[in-house]
Amino acid sequence: MKRHLISAADLSRDDAVLILDTAEEMARVADRPIKKLPTLRGRTVVNLFFEDSTRTRISFEAAAKRLSADVINFSAKGSSVSKGESLKDTALTLEAMGADAVVIRHGDSGAPHRLATSGWIGGSVVNAGDGTHEHPTQALLDAFTMRRRLVGADASTGQDLAGRRITVVGDILHSRVARSNVHLLTTLGADVTLVAPPTLVPIGVENWPCEVSYDLDSVVGTSDAVMMLRVQRERMNAAFFPTEREYARRYGLDGERMAKMPEHAIVMHPGPMNRGMEITAEVADSPRCTAVEQVTNGVSIRMAVLYLLLGGNEPALTATGTSTRTEESK
Ligand code: NCD
Repeated sequence: MKRHLISAADLSRDDAVLILDTAEEMARVADRPIKKLPTLRGRTVVNLFFEDSTRTRISFEAAAKRLSADVINFSAKGSSVSKGESLKDTALTLEAMGADAVVIRHGDSGAPHRLATSGWIGGSVVNAGDGTHEHPTQALLDAFTMRRRLVGADASTGQDLAGRRITVVGDILHSRVARSNVHLLTTLGADVTLVAPPTLVPIGVENWPCEVSYDLDSVVGTSDAVMMLRVQRERMNAAFFPTEREYARRYGLDGERMAKMPEHAIVMHPGPMNRGMEITAEVADSPRCTAVEQVTNGVSIRMAVLYLLLGGNEPALTATGTSTRTEESK
């Protein structure tokens, strides 16, 4: 594993499977009455959020705390960033505080890369979503969810998603979740199809390792997982489709379309969901939709990432599933 996690494209198959397997071990901690390991005691994790977030920020915070790290939450609103402070000066402040890892979400694509390569900070940098570029831990928690649901409960045996058909639907153009998923899922051997109106397909998509379709009905019947994406209005400066009703009719998932999916197939959504737009309430609340499970799995994945980046050379837990030294055993 590299020192930073900036892009899902940086992960080899072995790296990805190691993170997924480690997350399986971490998930076992969540089943205990005391959900805590002492692994990162004395280490400091800073959550540096320049963009709004619910799930990702809370999840990184829970993950760091479950590993006993000290957590500093920094959100740009209410900080000196709103007084014009630069990324560099913010980074130097974090370095002065002794941050061992900086988890950064930023509206500009490339901000985490800049932080990791600038020399401003000495710790690990984790990309928690940068502009329309990447969101690697989201792709990892999505792959973890698919592996558990599609490969089986005992998935922590180095297995990947070889041959599974994954369909990603919606605002691909603005989606860092889609980009990271395409990289990671193809690394894990899955076949990915992107479905969107032509206006929401990025230029150069023909060079991506996936198929593109403009017709959702033609692919739902053969998909093992259908991942619905939010229409990201905050990143749109023009009209990309005629009306919301038209979009929902052609690219939304309702009960009727879901019924065409194979029986074992799952519906995924990274959140936040726009019910009635890309997904109906009926689908969002159905047992086939893994949105809430994805949030739970996000904590295990982020524990695994922090643990591995901050120098976890030993297994997080022993083979029997009991910690080498848990809070409970002290
Ligand atoms: C996504 C994001 O922020 O990129 N959400 C998330 O991290 N769970 C997707 C979105 O905002 O639609």
